[in-house]
Amino acid sequence: MKIKALNIDGRTFLAPLAGITNLPFRLLVKQCGCAVVCSEMISAKGLFYNSKKTLGLLSSKKEEQPLSVQLFGSDPHSMANAAKVVTDLKIADIIDLNFGCSVKKVVKQGAGVALMKEPELSKAILTAVRKATLLPLTIKIRSGWDYSGHQAFKIAQIAQDSGVDAIVIHPRTAGQGFKGKADWELIKKVKQQLTIPVIGNGDINRVEDAHKMITLTGCDAVMVGRAAMANPFILSQIDDFLETGSYQIPSDYDIFRAMESLTRMYVAYFGEKPACKMLRGRLSWFVRGMKGCSAFRKNLCDIHSKDHALALIKDFETVTQ
Ligand SMILES: Cc1cc2nc3c(=O)[nH]c(=O)nc-3n(C[C@H](O)[C@H](O)[C@H](O)COP(=O)(O)O)c2cc1C
Repeated sequence: MKIKALNIDGRTFLAPLAGITNLPFRLLVKQCGCAVVCSEMISAKGLFYNSKKTLGLLSSKKEEQPLSVQLFGSDPHSMANAAKVVTDLKIADIIDLNFGCSVKKVVKQGAGVALMKEPELSKAILTAVRKATLLPLTIKIRSGWDYSGHQAFKIAQIAQDSGVDAIVIHPRTAGQGFKGKADWELIKKVKQQLTIPVIGNGDINRVEDAHKMITLTGCDAVMVGRAAMANPFILSQIDDFLETGSYQIPSDYDIFRAMESLTRMYVAYFGEKPACKMLRGRLSWFVRGMKGCSAFRKNLCDIHSKDHALALIKDFETVTQ
């Protein structure tokens, strides 16, 4: 598929996941196979004020490209400035704007899904950002604030008319958060309305779900979030399935190598102590359903060094053989 002039080799996007799609996790997913990875959401205000923490979220490596960097904010000037900062850093292949986050802290600032109630402000932001960058520009929306989808149609149209190059839709309302079911029918309606590519998102839990979403909605590509946390191979499996009708299940060997790789990258990126704390949760995602996983998960609570983490992974691998 193509977004503006960017040729994309596949139809899979790793969803932006705050606190999760950091550089090491994106590199892991890329190693496992994925067309496009997305950053965590990055505060336009934070970039405006040169916040060290926010700038840290822009760490990137060539190997992960194409990379989509997601920005959130509620003011055209700081959003345009952020787009310019990201463009000048030459790390991003796509800039994505967050029109979907329903977390209170974000909505209270008038950002994320709050923008879906504000067509005029949305238009001002999109026009300002479009002027600030020549990079492919996408936006990620929800259904809106009710189930009708009217706000999604309106914002999607404004986006296309403002020069946005593709739209991601997660068809849940603001109030739903991540509960209930994603309304894939709405993806179909938005796709029918627009001429730019539409990327469908929400409730792709298995490879076959992606095929079903594309068949039912006609969307051009799919975006996967939570399922990739437990199975970083799912995006390459989806691309294989869409291309050939079949896909490989990763062996336990592949899964253990992925866990080791993530451990090393976490330690290199975050430093040993913070990485160990984070890995306690992260590594447990990968072993769901494996024999003896509850004992392994218990042991993960004590990780205190890289070598300890790697030894626990090795020991558990031996147990599962
Ligand atoms: C922990 C977590 C963090 C998220 N962070 C973001 C974010 O930073 N930006 C965003 O647009 N969506 C964010 N989302 C929403 C996801 O990108 C995605 O739209 C949602 O999880 C539905 O897709 P899925 O069913 O494949 O998980 C987040 C979701 C979760 C669970």
